[in-house]
Amino acid sequence: MPFAVEQLKSVATEQLSKSETIKLRNKHIGQACQLFYRTDPLKIVRGQGQYMFDEEGTRYLDCINNVAHVGHCHPEVVMAGAMQMATISTNCRFLHDELVQCAKTLTGKMPPSLSVCFFVNSGSEANDLALRLARNFTKRQDVITLDHAYHGHLQSVMEVSPYKFNMPGGEKKMDYVHVAPCPDIYNGQITDKMHPDADLAKLYAQPVEDICTNQLAKGQGVAAFIAESLQSCGGQILPPPGYFKAVYEAVRSNGGVCIADEVQVGFGRVGSHYWAFETQDVVPDIVTVAKPMGNGHPVGAVVTTPEIAQALQATGVPYFNTYGGNPVSCAIANAVMRVIDQEGLQQNAKKLGDYLLDECQQLKKEFECIGDVRGVGFFVGIELVQDRDARIPDTKSARWVVNRMKQVHKVLVSSDGPNDNVIKLKPPMCFNRENADEFLMTFRECLTTLMQDKLVAAVDAAKAKANDRISSAAADTLANKTKLLERHDRLIKSV
Ligand SMILES: Cc1ncc(COP(=O)(O)O)c(C=O)c1O
Repeated sequence: MPFAVEQLKSVATEQLSKSETIKLRNKHIGQACQLFYRTDPLKIVRGQGQYMFDEEGTRYLDCINNVAHVGHCHPEVVMAGAMQMATISTNCRFLHDELVQCAKTLTGKMPPSLSVCFFVNSGSEANDLALRLARNFTKRQDVITLDHAYHGHLQSVMEVSPYKFNMPGGEKKMDYVHVAPCPDIYNGQITDKMHPDADLAKLYAQPVEDICTNQLAKGQGVAAFIAESLQSCGGQILPPPGYFKAVYEAVRSNGGVCIADEVQVGFGRVGSHYWAFETQDVVPDIVTVAKPMGNGHPVGAVVTTPEIAQALQATGVPYFNTYGGNPVSCAIANAVMRVIDQEGLQQNAKKLGDYLLDECQQLKKEFECIGDVRGVGFFVGIELVQDRDARIPDTKSARWVVNRMKQVHKVLVSSDGPNDNVIKLKPPMCFNRENADEFLMTFRECLTTLMQDKLVAAVDAAKAKANDRISSAAADTLANKTKLLERHDRLIKSV
């Protein structure tokens, strides 16, 4: 029996005190390894569905874990992995039914031209192989990526990740990498405010076309354009409709191929479709998938056309990956895809994602600090600003909200984007109405407190300025705002 209660209990309780865990981590784990909430880190010992539990049994609502796609420790996924592990785990140089069934199901979810799979262990590996396939197919080296993009931690993919190489200590950009602007119409290089009547998709696609034609004129050309179908690290960016169509056309007409990174956003997260690239009505040449595919187990894949796959075979250098495509990983991925369908999780993402977005739009009407609310399905971004008209990012407030949500409300959200001012939501797909309401109520409390704190600071500043005497007009405004915030308080308490 793989899951004896006693066994489960022993792994779901602490083996070390939290302070000992921190001490050992500080000593033996590279300090460059990221740690959430570094000043007060969480020790998570157990997960179930959309919840995580710390060593004291405190429950946290997980609004950020797009890896635990069908829910932490989903029994069907756990059972599929355990049974296969207890049967055989070996490499894909042997025939195995889980491998071919996984490839069949995965390609069955893609447009017909994308019918061939290569299995890997992570998103980084998937993108590394995608670049290799593209370079081999086109016999070119240059790659176009988007500003703020992240495609993984391997050397090859760090090179196409401005999110990393543009950091103060990052390695410099390679000559064969070209960075096009991120199609962020709210706070990017070209915004809907600057160009209210323009075709923003066309304006953002133009730099990609220019890079292609310039490189062709130099006799080099471009091997590939790589982009997330919705940019997550860039701050939950939804490109304007028509953007990918225009970009793909420019890249292909100049002899390059198009890679869609669906590592974060695939497998039904967007609700309306199974893949996020479908929201833009395009068909990539190569698609990379990972994170949600294994629901916490390391598995990924590159899906491409027979022509691109055949070009790799023609090199005579075989592809082999010790763990990529092993029966355990494939059994798990098969279970994940089954659960998404059986439990209607894509439909859930659509229904509840719409609800979350609508409610966040309502919050935007009430709270000036929300500059923009955007998203699709369970991929939502709430951009906090200091000044709504000027769209000045409010990094400090975003970080404050993330911490307060965790500290006070035990709700886990994160912030991201070039200014780290976008509150990101990408919960497990089993997130329900009650969870959405819990997020909304606690987020409202944070925003109310934030505004109150800001008001107090404003009163103090006004007092200081007027030598302890506030002008009556200023006092009136502040009194009105205070009343409004008291109303928010009452609303929170009444839920
Ligand atoms: C869009 C995207 N691509 C690729 C990766 C790399 O995936 P992994 O961490 O599994 O190597 C990530 C990881 O965060 C990602 O967000």
